[in-house]
Amino acid sequence: MKTLKIAVIPGDGIGPEVISEGMKILNRIAELDSGFQFEFNEFPWGCEYYSKHGVMMDENGMDKLKEFNAIYLGAVGYPGVPDHISLWDLLLKIRKDFDQYVNIRPIRLLEAAPCPLKDISREDVNMLFIRENSEGEYAGAGDWLFKGQENEVVLQNGVFSRKGTERIIRYAFETARKEGKTLTSISKGNALNYSMVFWDQVFEEVSREYQDVETASYLVDAAAMLMIKDPKRFEVVVTSNLFGDILTDLGAAIAGGIGLAAGANINPERKYPSMFEPIHGSAPDIAGQGIANPLAAIWSASQMMDFFGYENYGENILQAIEKVLLDGKVLTSDMGGTATTEQVGNHVVNYLEEILNAQKTKS
Ligand code: NAI
Ligand code: MG
Repeated sequence: MKTLKIAVIPGDGIGPEVISEGMKILNRIAELDSGFQFEFNEFPWGCEYYSKHGVMMDENGMDKLKEFNAIYLGAVGYPGVPDHISLWDLLLKIRKDFDQYVNIRPIRLLEAAPCPLKDISREDVNMLFIRENSEGEYAGAGDWLFKGQENEVVLQNGVFSRKGTERIIRYAFETARKEGKTLTSISKGNALNYSMVFWDQVFEEVSREYQDVETASYLVDAAAMLMIKDPKRFEVVVTSNLFGDILTDLGAAIAGGIGLAAGANINPERKYPSMFEPIHGSAPDIAGQGIANPLAAIWSASQMMDFFGYENYGENILQAIEKVLLDGKVLTSDMGGTATTEQVGNHVVNYLEEILNAQKTKS
């Protein structure tokens, strides 16, 4: 039997609450499938760990993580520890050191998921955002000169290497080709006269190798408007680190809200483990009450199944989430319900079992 080793970093705030529901789903699938099992190892890293040890993770933490097939992360960040420390010393460290240069965020409006857009049919909101995740505007390059003086200057440089730009665009073309979808590039070549002119040029170059993939290109500001006005234009989308960060939050808002948004950080070469996480933060305002919505964490478990090649289970998890939304009786307060995190998790498990059993009797 195959063993899939998962490093679990529940993190801070609601992180542990939602991650345990995701693990419940994964464990149930493994129980019902005799072909593989999960082995979960939890790491207590995060802000609480920082307050005790002065570091966000063990000194040899990255070596420990290397041994795993995937990382399942809740959220990091908590009042008392500056956000740039919690982010850079844990989340961004893993993304960078493990060369997880692809960030995948599905923006897909599930049946019965809340959507603020008017006159839009559900099928129109079905995008796959592929965000550059290793450099660009978040490269961390820059300087802070003459601190506190009158002539103070800060520089925050965007870093776009040929290798980095080409590989993310190529990954997006491969994905679009595989899924038989169009590919849209989002940039800002009119104002960012080096980085984004270069981005557009590389997109154009790589596109010549993929004549079969239909492409479109938008400026980021226009894209933000069109995602609201005419979302069906967007199928597979490739964009830079900063633009992807912002647009996927916009995407989350039109595809069911923060309680449903998931993201995967992928090292396509599989040299290092990839990382799966809900995109929301630690939500200190509701932490410890057992009322956080676990659906985003459960969706990221679905992405993990896809990544392991069990796309059928990935889809089954989404179908189970859809059933929970449709019956509408067991939802957390952010979705207008009164259920606890655990009740929602159990409800997803029940529907998942129903779906899997129905498949068994069919086959
Ligand atoms: P947040 O996503 O934690 O919360 C924003 C709002 O959404 C809050 O009102 C919260 O209650 C609500 N919310 C978020 N997730 C929810 C869920 N699953 N169910 C129900 N309601 C939910 O963002 P915020 O408040 O800006 O950041 C809080 C902390 O989290 C900060 O320290 C921040 O740095 C960190 N953070 C960490 C992220 C990560 O680990 N990937 C991502 C975003 C923020
Ligand atoms: Mg973000």
